[in-house]
Amino acid sequence: MKTIVAGNWKMHTDAGSADALINDVAAGTAAGAGDVLVIVAPPFPFLKAAVDRARTVDHGGKAPGILVAAQNCHEEEQGAFTGEVSVPMLKSLGVGACIVGHSERRQYYGETDEVVGRKVVQLLKHGLMPIYCCGERRDEREQGRHRDVVSRQLNTALGGLPAQDLSRVVVAYEPVWAIGTGVNASPEQAQEMHGFIRKELAGLAGKAALDVPILYGGSCKPDNAASLFGCPDINGGLIGGAALSAASFTELVRIAQRSKAVS
Ligand code: 13P
Repeated sequence: MKTIVAGNWKMHTDAGSADALINDVAAGTAAGAGDVLVIVAPPFPFLKAAVDRARTVDHGGKAPGILVAAQNCHEEEQGAFTGEVSVPMLKSLGVGACIVGHSERRQYYGETDEVVGRKVVQLLKHGLMPIYCCGERRDEREQGRHRDVVSRQLNTALGGLPAQDLSRVVVAYEPVWAIGTGVNASPEQAQEMHGFIRKELAGLAGKAALDVPILYGGSCKPDNAASLFGCPDINGGLIGGAALSAASFTELVRIAQRSKAVS
């Protein structure tokens, strides 16, 4: 099973600070990230610089290196969609992955599971790794509906995929109430949901579900990561705030390396 630590920079940085951050992340992981796949997701304008810098990192041919991801893409191949970015555009830059269905896109831009599912299909068609985000809001958890919500998100967006395609997807469980709040899901809450997600994926794809990395996201930081990454169905993290500092992000990579080496 692949272990992944992915940094979602959201709408932060500018040309100078994005360059500095990718440089520092590259330098911090240059000694090798072990078996951990490091992903950075800068804003669109800085993707090319990030791809160019990531290519210069030599991990000795063993480790997977740094993969650059976008934070969103359009579900159509091309067309009159002013302001949008297509998957072939991302591919032509050397971008290797893309976050889709982040709760901020669902909340502020009205993205539905159907649309996000089409984005996943586009990404798979062009050989990019979709990082599919799911997770319940606070009110949904309080009403005891968190499993139903996540089940619906997974089944609607990913339910139509053949098993071999589903095994190329990465899922990120990001409870909305934990994002940017400083309140992470406890390892017990997170493991319970990751185990549930694994079962749902198995319902869709059988054994192929065992190959799907399931990342935890939501106030994941160096001081809580070891207990989260140590859970059996948590295969790494999707990191927001703590990915904006190269020091804390590379520390998270090291914690993932250690947690997975012993688990
Ligand atoms: P925080 O780590 O800042 O809570 O953000 C998580 C997230 O939304 C990553 O996509």
